[in-house]
Amino acid sequence: FPVAGMKQNILITGFMGAGKSSVARALAELTGLFAVDTDDLIESLLHCSIKSYFVSHGENAFRRLEQRLANWLASSVDHTIVATGGGFFQVQGLMELGQVCFLNADFDTICRHLHVCAGDQQTVMRPLFQNLEAAKKRFDERLPLYRQNAHHIITVGTQDSMDLARQIQDIL
Ligand code: S3P
Repeated sequence: FPVAGMKQNILITGFMGAGKSSVARALAELTGLFAVDTDDLIESLLHCSIKSYFVSHGENAFRRLEQRLANWLASSVDHTIVATGGGFFQVQGLMELGQVCFLNADFDTICRHLHVCAGDQQTVMRPLFQNLEAAKKRFDERLPLYRQNAHHIITVGTQDSMDLARQIQDIL
């Protein structure tokens, strides 16, 4: 690292509520690179929120949009920080898009970040966090895959976003 010809993006992956968007913004502030967010980019294509898109078109259609976006990033984006949606790590070609940093937060930390409680905005807006048991099951299934599909694993404890961003800057 860095390998010649390799993309110089920094991708932040991890489960919903791990803090990906906040860390991406902190890292942008530190490095002067722009940060984009895959959920925001996908919403820019839709006439609705991701939540309503999930309801009307289903998860598979959303995953196809994520793949389309990954292809666009591969052809068009470099030297950019990319905060990803929680399932984006499953796209084809992820590891070639840049340095993939997995924010490894345990499930309790995630619930704390999302203020998991009935009717809270953070979970209301997340179609795949409507039910705690189902979310935990998805978390457990994904954990080994997040690890496999990453160049770097950042353990999320009690540090704030800026601390985590500094940690990422140090390892890159
Ligand atoms: C998803 C996570 C969401 C969003 C969509 C699907 C997932 O992003 O992309 O609801 O599959 O984990 P956040 O991780 O930003 O909440």
